[in-house]
Amino acid sequence: MSQPYYLLRNREVPAIDQMSVYLAHGGYQALRMALKDFKPEELVDMVKKSGLRGRGGAGFPTGMKWGFLPNDGRKRYLVVNSDEAEPGTFKDREIIEHNPHQLIEGIIISSFATKAREAFIYCRGEFLFGSEQLTRAVAEAYAQGFLGENILGSGYALDLSVYRGAGAYICGEESALLESLEGKRGNPRLKPPFPAVAGLYGGPTVINNVETITNVPVIVSKGADWYTTMGTAKSPGLKIFSVSGRVQRPGNYEIPLATPLSTLINDYAGGVWSGRQIKAVIPGGSSVPLLTPDQLDTPLDYESILQAGSMLGSGGCIVLDDHICIVGATARLVRFYREESCGKCTPCREGTYWMTDILDRLEHGLGTPDDLDTLADVADNVGGKCFCPLGDASLGVLVSALQHFREEFEEHVERHACPMGERLYDTVNN
Ligand SMILES: Cc1cc2nc3c(=O)[nH]c(=O)nc-3n(C[C@H](O)[C@H](O)[C@H](O)COP(=O)(O)O)c2cc1C
Ligand code: SF4
Repeated sequence: MSQPYYLLRNREVPAIDQMSVYLAHGGYQALRMALKDFKPEELVDMVKKSGLRGRGGAGFPTGMKWGFLPNDGRKRYLVVNSDEAEPGTFKDREIIEHNPHQLIEGIIISSFATKAREAFIYCRGEFLFGSEQLTRAVAEAYAQGFLGENILGSGYALDLSVYRGAGAYICGEESALLESLEGKRGNPRLKPPFPAVAGLYGGPTVINNVETITNVPVIVSKGADWYTTMGTAKSPGLKIFSVSGRVQRPGNYEIPLATPLSTLINDYAGGVWSGRQIKAVIPGGSSVPLLTPDQLDTPLDYESILQAGSMLGSGGCIVLDDHICIVGATARLVRFYREESCGKCTPCREGTYWMTDILDRLEHGLGTPDDLDTLADVADNVGGKCFCPLGDASLGVLVSALQHFREEFEEHVERHACPMGERLYDTVNN
């Protein structure tokens, strides 16, 4: 099926990561336009009008976030979140590894729009190749006069650095990211104040996801009105979905928001493995509730997915088929949160530990009839009671799995064994 391919349009171009090739394909034209034809405030208005929403998970309107920066003369920062450690999500990775200049162009325009004087890309620790690509591309951008003093003769100056984390999922949470960027342990901060008011080094800071920022040059060159022709009024534009699990063609697919989930899975990702049926879909990365086969017509926009009982999240769409043990799949994902909990607050630190313990027991046929209620009770003591959203994120799949597949949990207890032949950990691409 043909794709709009705006963010991924150059994915087949050899060496698009090199400055000369990027320039030959129209690269940095949007930056020239932004610096020459627009005032910063006009760019902020353009992004507001486009309706672009943050692609890091929460879907917060980007232009509105930029508008929160106080006008108090303090130095402003722009920080790009390239931590991308959510299981099932690998869209930002493709951008930074394959087309880093597209992101850098977006960073310079976004920094100019928000009057930031210094910008950082916080890169996931495991993204060695990605951070090398970014570091090299940033050096090229300096050499070309797109970074540093007096960019393209505009009088605007910006410095951009790449920082590689040490490999912790919690450092994707924006305030933990800032702590880590400042050289401290990556624990989340109490909010408010939000980063717009007191962020990096206490200064006004914009934090946006890689994909969010990569949308900005497209919006500048094609216009906010064009952007709103795709998707819905509240969820306009394009989104990259990372499809993994038991589909014929796993990968990143860029589609207009509000495209039905079934179209993404069947027409783009080639459908489920032959001879299998879809059992459940986790539509927005491992932190969101799963959907069942009768919900495959759900349009992939923020509001419709919420109405269906899940969330768009980061757009990591994990497809589970009918050979997968839902107890095993849930155990594996909750274990991830146990490993990644920073341990700062008790409900998350203890809750993820106990939930993993019970799920492991159930999966291996050692559970008792009381375990399901205990599991639900522990989940209840985690939900809404944690210091940061990681605690709630650990519950998305668990609570929905208990709701939709309770019989399968009960069968594990009754049979003292797993009734399924296969396990998720053999198959999920992560
Ligand atoms: C545990 C946790 C992990 C997160 N990981 C990421 C991440 O890897 N990348 C990201 O952009 N946002 C991540 N977020 C969301 C960020 O806190 C923040 O909302 C986002 O970077 C804002 O950018 P956006 O408005 O462009 O989406 C995470 C949030 C939580 C609670
Ligand atoms: S919810 Fe978990 S990750 Fe967040 S502060 Fe508490 S212990 Fe740390």
